[in-house]
Amino acid sequence: MDRFPAQFEDMLTAAGRRVLAGGSPLCGALAAPRRGLLDRALYDRLELLEHPIPPESIWEMTKNYAELLPKTARVRTAFLERRRERAYRRAEEIGLVAMLRSESFAAFAAALAGRALRQRWGIQVLCYGPGDYAGPHNDHHPEEPAARRGYLDLHVSLSGRGVAQQWLVYAVQGHFSRIVDVATAGGVTAYRLPIWHYTTPLVPKAGARPTEARRWLLLGTFLYRHPFVAETRVPRPGKLLEN
Ligand SMILES: [Fe+2]
Repeated sequence: MDRFPAQFEDMLTAAGRRVLAGGSPLCGALAAPRRGLLDRALYDRLELLEHPIPPESIWEMTKNYAELLPKTARVRTAFLERRRERAYRRAEEIGLVAMLRSESFAAFAAALAGRALRQRWGIQVLCYGPGDYAGPHNDHHPEEPAARRGYLDLHVSLSGRGVAQQWLVYAVQGHFSRIVDVATAGGVTAYRLPIWHYTTPLVPKAGARPTEARRWLLLGTFLYRHPFVAETRVPRPGKLLEN
């Protein structure tokens, strides 16, 4: 079976490697997207994550303009934290676990973060199909001491040719005023969380095959080594990872 490269770095272009080396403030594109491999090996192992709008959010309202929307979403996912997960073994076989656990993936995140990260980080795979989306949410985790002052997410997007559009909308100064195209093949988005954001429904191209109208998302969640201290010094890659 085909495999992912062992290191995240091996999927990066020269521009991406410049980010890794600390020479650029920007993200790069990936040299060799492996979306087809994900379609073949992992799609049938994903779980459907579905949180629709609760009907009571309308019909149990008692005051005008008092609506509150909990986090809504429809997306397929595989948490790659536990070996017992259905998708874990398959993700390991195709090299995805090793690539997302590679030192260069964490070093890339740390280069963008500009501060030291914990040695362990969370990894996950998401797959958006036609109409899949994530409603407004902020990804704040106030119950987790290591995350409650903020953390970093790194997403690698691998969109199929049948994806017409999908957008990330995020809030700046209290308004959902910024929008970014995430229907990319090999684009990297980094999030300094928590922040209010949402992902618009994936729109397929007319007549697209189902396997082409998907956006895969490879995801790393990184905690700061010193969650309560804002570091300004940028450590050298390779020196970033501590317990
Ligand atoms: Fe989010």
